[in-house]
Amino acid sequence: MKNQDLIQLLNNYREQKKCIIGFNINDIYDLKAVALAAEEANCPVMAMTYPPVVELNSSLLCKKMVEGIQTYTKQPIYLHLDHSVSVDMCKQAIDDGYHSVMIDGSQKSLKENITMTKEVVKYAESAGVLVEAEIGKIMGRNVIVKSDTDFLASVADVKAMVEEANPHIMAVGIGTSHGFTPRTPKIHFDRLAEIYAAVSVPLVLHGGTGIPDEDIQRSITMGVAKLNVGTIVHTTYMRELYNEIGKDIAGAYPPYLMKNVIPKIKDVVLSRLHAVNYKNE
Ligand code: 13P
Repeated sequence: MKNQDLIQLLNNYREQKKCIIGFNINDIYDLKAVALAAEEANCPVMAMTYPPVVELNSSLLCKKMVEGIQTYTKQPIYLHLDHSVSVDMCKQAIDDGYHSVMIDGSQKSLKENITMTKEVVKYAESAGVLVEAEIGKIMGRNVIVKSDTDFLASVADVKAMVEEANPHIMAVGIGTSHGFTPRTPKIHFDRLAEIYAAVSVPLVLHGGTGIPDEDIQRSITMGVAKLNVGTIVHTTYMRELYNEIGKDIAGAYPPYLMKNVIPKIKDVVLSRLHAVNYKNE
């Protein structure tokens, strides 16, 4: 598939009120689980690598991994660089064949965020690579927010980003958090509706692990065409692997362990895919 296909797909999804899921993957095993789930659910997926995965393995190896795993499904697996705060890392991923990159300048001033995004959009253009930008903040991890005004994406800022930097899709901070949350995240649907009306790019919802299915489904009616899911994938992976190793530590042999772990990861991926595809099944 060509990179342009993904940009078109996401524009169509916004119109059709459909949504692709990007799953954060770490290695060939969780990637295989995602591929098998895509085949079973009969829908395209995105495989997303966080910067530490790229730092450990290189974006070229990640690209080769996805190329190799593509044989497990007829569905496209689009490779995406997630939350890169580095313009150079985005450029390298584009050179190495990623379909999509996120430049995350959300911790910077609006002006700096727009400047970084512009640079990546310009670099991505000739390869037709999709660029995701972020306005507002996704809570959790190291992101410190003091009040609603701190994390909530301003409509004017989103408009400025879209008009000046031209990213293909926009992640917006509307109350979701990365990871497991002690309480159900309060999504600011009023703000999402305002952003949806103000810009025509597809929107991205981060923090998919903690968002209830009905909130995901409601957000899809308001321009969200990509959902990010990560923590539930890697915690399932680690917990199931730990359990498998614990059964016989001396005899633990990776291929045998992973035979039991991959289906467990696949089940989690399938349940998220079902949450967004339930109308088409
Ligand atoms: P979760 O870890 O909450 O699923 O969020 C993933 C994400 O948004 C990656 O960008």
